[in-house]
Amino acid sequence: MPEAPLLADLIVHHRATPGALLPLLHAVQDAFGHIPSEAVPAIAEALNLSRAEVHGVITYYHHFRQWPAGRHVVQVCQAESCQACGSRALTAAAERIFGCALGQTRADGAVTLEAVYCLGLCAQSPAVQVDERLHARVSEAKLARIAQQLGV
Ligand code: FES
Repeated sequence: MPEAPLLADLIVHHRATPGALLPLLHAVQDAFGHIPSEAVPAIAEALNLSRAEVHGVITYYHHFRQWPAGRHVVQVCQAESCQACGSRALTAAAERIFGCALGQTRADGAVTLEAVYCLGLCAQSPAVQVDERLHARVSEAKLARIAQQLGV
């Protein structure tokens, strides 16, 4: 694994923290953009957990990616408030606009479309996060403008 020194630094930094697994997984994903499969044995050993336990946490939380994302990450909220305000139709529109299914990365690597479960904008649903930027009261037209601004 070419990033092994960085992973080792992250492990050293987090291993003594109570409940270190989640903060460490967040740090690894922030550093690498995903949780490389090669990192799982090192994390498990450092935290005295089984590989299955670490893998179980990675797969339980939608936030964690097991593969690299596209250049832009579009997350459409699927939680209750956004569902009540049309997020299912908005998700279908996002799949058309960005050219990939929810949970997938477009073939050219430009966009990853993901589900997310509450962005803290429930009063302004439906909500979308594009890369690090939050968007409230998103319509299909607004999503199309965002895609145009991204150049995708
Ligand atoms: Fe979508 Fe909270 S339910 S932002």
